[in-house]
Amino acid sequence: MQSIRWDNGELFILDQTKLPDYVEYICCKDYQTVFEAICRLSVRGAPAIGAAAAYGLVLGAMALPKKDLTNFISQVERIAGVLMSSRPTAVNLKWAIDRMLSGLAVNKFNNYDRIINFMLQEAELIYQEDLENNKNIGYYGNKLIPPGARILTHCNAGALATAGYGTALGVIRAAAEADKKIMVYAGETRPLLQGARLTTLEMINAKIPVTLITDNMAGYLMYLKKADLIIIGADRIAANGDTANKIGTYGLAVLAKAHGLPFYVAAPLSTIDIELESGSDIPIEERSGDEVTHIAGTRVAPPGVDVWNPAFDITPAELITSIITEKGIAVPPYSKSLRKLFET
Ligand code: MRU
Repeated sequence: MQSIRWDNGELFILDQTKLPDYVEYICCKDYQTVFEAICRLSVRGAPAIGAAAAYGLVLGAMALPKKDLTNFISQVERIAGVLMSSRPTAVNLKWAIDRMLSGLAVNKFNNYDRIINFMLQEAELIYQEDLENNKNIGYYGNKLIPPGARILTHCNAGALATAGYGTALGVIRAAAEADKKIMVYAGETRPLLQGARLTTLEMINAKIPVTLITDNMAGYLMYLKKADLIIIGADRIAANGDTANKIGTYGLAVLAKAHGLPFYVAAPLSTIDIELESGSDIPIEERSGDEVTHIAGTRVAPPGVDVWNPAFDITPAELITSIITEKGIAVPPYSKSLRKLFET
């Protein structure tokens, strides 16, 4: 199962809303279909939406009239803006689109085919590099995992959320490949159940022992000393280390602190927004109330009830033991250590 796949001028997006029961790919021939797939969370997870948006921009450029180069470039920029507006929190989306556009600005083209080839190559690089980065995150993160560790994770920061291998789940995969006999607790992750539907599926497919819990069981799990550490992915990390990730992450970090457990964040540098001073500047996506009033399409709350549905929360840097990246492991103070990673 690959989150996205480019094949002969079309982008195939694995429809993660149908998992674990159906493996169906959406064939995207235009950027609007990619935009809708990102909004609907058919493709989700910070690095995967960045790569999908990059390919979406290629599809957008391919369909433009090829008459006036200035107009062509400004239309590509307009489409970039549309794709970027699909989800506000994960900075990988902006990072990938900016990378595509800055390449266009630097490379002075006079031939439409060359522009499109360049954009396609760049999208492919974004995808390939993410896979490599995740393997390196796994390599570094594995050093932090003791043999026999019982690891709690939240949401899905796995192959499905990336170009492959995963960030938090990449560390878990690397520890399992090193034969450390680990096991995983997957928090179900209400409202959309990425933990229950996706993380468990990935772990079962990888033959890594996994136990599913509901989100409100995490405190008791730690109280009973059934977890040794927590590891999660990220959607955006500010320069001071404050981390936006799936709603519920902050609560786990507070619980980890109260129980003296390490709390690790695993993410590529493309998730670090080094220009953003702190987490309070990170935009948090709010989604439809239907996601809370309904579970798998069935209404579970009275009709018309008021709902608040933030998709992410912010975990303050002081609750994070270390941040695992493809360039190495950052430790507090993050304002220094994260910046240093960009220099290496
Ligand atoms: O709303 P989602 O499913 O896109 O949220 C995903 C997460 O919060 C992940 O933990 C994060 O994007 C990291 S994925 C490597």
